[in-house]
Amino acid sequence: MVDGTRVAAVDDVPENGSYLFTAEDAYSRTKELILVRCDDESGIEAWPNTCTHENQRFDRGTGAAMRDGEIICPKHGSMFDACSGACENGEAAGTSLPEVDVTVADGGVFLIDDEYTYLYEGAARDDEDDEDDDDIPSSTSHIGF
Ligand code: FES
Repeated sequence: MVDGTRVAAVDDVPENGSYLFTAEDAYSRTKELILVRCDDESGIEAWPNTCTHENQRFDRGTGAAMRDGEIICPKHGSMFDACSGACENGEAAGTSLPEVDVTVADGGVFLIDDEYTYLYEGAARDDEDDEDDDDIPSSTSHIGF
């Protein structure tokens, strides 16, 4: 039995891309997080959906760009290791994405990080009062069905 919240089925996490969900952090702020495939033993890692260089989302509603096991920032192209979160190139070189603890069990991915409380699948909704007011059109998060 896993002491955490089931976020998604393992199969929901794309081989090349990301699974986007929203959580609340320890300061009651709404935060977007992503699940990505990784080649280590767990197979899946979670990271904040924000570049360490500027307030830029990796996944803007259609999955993060990934290549060779790295998450690519769409703004300046820095690449982050999907397993470690480390970045060694471009504007974000020398930084690392903050860890988000998840575990895989029973075919599902569970959020087990004390810092976060799972809220819902997908992007943060516009009615949240946060500062993630970057260049994303609000209409991108609307799903028909
Ligand atoms: S905003 Fe991501 S590398 Fe600049």
